Amino acid sequence: MRFSSCTKEIEISSIRKAFEGAGPDAVNLGIGQPDFDTPAHIKEAAIKALEKGMTGYTPNCGYPDLQKAISEKFKRENGIDYLPSEIMVTSGASEALFLAISALVDKGDEVLIGDPSFLSYKALTQLVGGKPVGVPLNEDLRISPQAVEERITSKTKAMVICSPSNPTGAVQTKEEVKAIAEIASDRGVTMISDEVYEHFLYEGEHVSLARFTDDVITINAVSKTYSMTGWRLGYLGAKGDALDQLLKVHQYIQACASSISQAAALAALTGPQDCVKAMRDEFKVRRDILAKGFKEMGVDLKVPQGAFYLFPKVDDGDLAASRLSKAGVIVVPGSAFGPGGKEHFRLSYAASRNKIAEALVRMRGIL
Ligand SMILES: Cc1ncc(COP(=O)(O)O)c(C=O)c1O
Repeated sequence: MRFSSCTKEIEISSIRKAFEGAGPDAVNLGIGQPDFDTPAHIKEAAIKALEKGMTGYTPNCGYPDLQKAISEKFKRENGIDYLPSEIMVTSGASEALFLAISALVDKGDEVLIGDPSFLSYKALTQLVGGKPVGVPLNEDLRISPQAVEERITSKTKAMVICSPSNPTGAVQTKEEVKAIAEIASDRGVTMISDEVYEHFLYEGEHVSLARFTDDVITINAVSKTYSMTGWRLGYLGAKGDALDQLLKVHQYIQACASSISQAAALAALTGPQDCVKAMRDEFKVRRDILAKGFKEMGVDLKVPQGAFYLFPKVDDGDLAASRLSKAGVIVVPGSAFGPGGKEHFRLSYAASRNKIAEALVRMRGIL
């Protein structure tokens, strides 16, 4: 078969390298999903949907009651106004990212992404013939407005920002988000704001970029917030007639998100939210256990305010990851997320306290 050059250019995720050489009893801190079950009331809503026979296609942009619930969520939690008609329900945040990038980016257009950042941003940009341009992080692992300004050229079409961030856990300040929004707006760069970790925030404040500009596609999902990664349910908000263009891509690649998952997402967004708080509280305890452990080992770590990742600094992240894996702790080398991550490794604390305690014992011998 003669595959397209854009496809051939994409690299298979190097996260998988992290799993090479690890024994069967290795503690897996490489994963990027909450280790909790989906809350019972959400599962029940899905069962009810099945029993009611909600098994057909849904409207392309999602069930109207779900669009409305998402519009209300944006207002309530983020202070941003999207009409229900400005909301599209997607198959995970992953599909929303693809829609945004493919609908915005022409061949040769530049897309600014954090270096390091979540792997999809680079790969999706390359898939549509665009050029990913890495914006280095500052010493607090955040994207500074100056660094954005310096990398914008006449070819810059879009920029993806992710706060709280995967892989660093860093949270952009309100001032930074506002400044980046203003720079982008002045220079005609459309922002894509990936907010899937917004609820895993232990200090500070989550600020949606859409508070400062309309030229943004806001992306979120129930995946992480409600421990629903396998349900494949995300959504985006975009102002004005943006959905007309995004819909063209969505209707041909996906038609609609899963009907059952939409019923579950409606229950998630409109039901009790104490399950989210319980997960957040547990993640915070685990973050603090690990941060204390690293401090005792003398490891250089900026304790992040959000997500469920730590991004310690070492001389050589690849070497550290491979030694840790041999010692029975799976972590991901920072270089997997961009060259700017090479002196780091990422570990996820979406693992039980017992596993984390065991990982700390094993890491002590190595770091
Ligand atoms: C920053 C970020 N955005 C988007 C996604 C994809 O989310 P979903 O599972 O909803 O497609 C992930 C998943 O790891 C992520 O870390």
